[in-house]
Amino acid sequence: MKTTHQRLYINIDHIATVRQARRGAEPVPVEAVALCERAGADGITAHLREDRRHIQDADIEAIATAVTTVFNLEIACTPEMIALAERLRPYAVTLVPERREEVTTEGGLDVAGAAPRLADALARLRAAGVRSSLFIAPDRDSIARSRDLGADAVELHTGTYAHHPHDAAPLQALRYGAQHAASAGLAVHAGHGLTTANVGPVAAIPEIEELNIGHHVIGRAIFIGLEAAVRELRAAMDAARGVDMDAARRAP
Ligand code: PXP
Repeated sequence: MKTTHQRLYINIDHIATVRQARRGAEPVPVEAVALCERAGADGITAHLREDRRHIQDADIEAIATAVTTVFNLEIACTPEMIALAERLRPYAVTLVPERREEVTTEGGLDVAGAAPRLADALARLRAAGVRSSLFIAPDRDSIARSRDLGADAVELHTGTYAHHPHDAAPLQALRYGAQHAASAGLAVHAGHGLTTANVGPVAAIPEIEELNIGHHVIGRAIFIGLEAAVRELRAAMDAARGVDMDAARRAP
């Protein structure tokens, strides 16, 4: 199981963060799509926040059209955003918590507190033919509730691990969480705060099918270019996963 390909989705929000710093026209997030895909990204992720602090509505339209792999749209569970997902019908939607005062998505969804709204949103996404994922802390309760609400996948929040990569507990929580989610029949994704340096132990968790990584790749791209930054990350994941990269390169 460990050698199965783990998907890498690149989150391109922070290209828009640079543009919005000047409220100008560049850099343009959609221009990253082809570069990421050429470098081996399996999908593109973008988060349209309610406050439009980075990605704008026009970016989402452009990205949805340009993607030749798959598009994972990250949104809060609000009427406006669910209606957008129904109209756009991306390959996947990841529902995330949003607080206006936060710098980034700080924790997982409150699955119990938001259950009725989440159930309605998940049913609407299913009816629209869109795969759904809930961004949650890797605890048993959130996982069981996500399954009961009918999500296709959960994305396990790796932020605690990323802040404390040398502590055993956060990594162990991700390992157990991934096992529980997979045995509950959920697809398992993970993300937040992952870098080339810390991705290995998470990439090595066999049940995790997909990683969503953004800030590190865009930051690294400033120095080595976007394609090289994606390749570097991909190589770190493959090495941890036990993929024979020479054999992969030789494959037809
Ligand atoms: N996954 C989800 C659900 C997120 O909200 C984010 C941050 O937008 C990421 C992954 C990527 O996190 P980072 O930018 O720290 O790699």
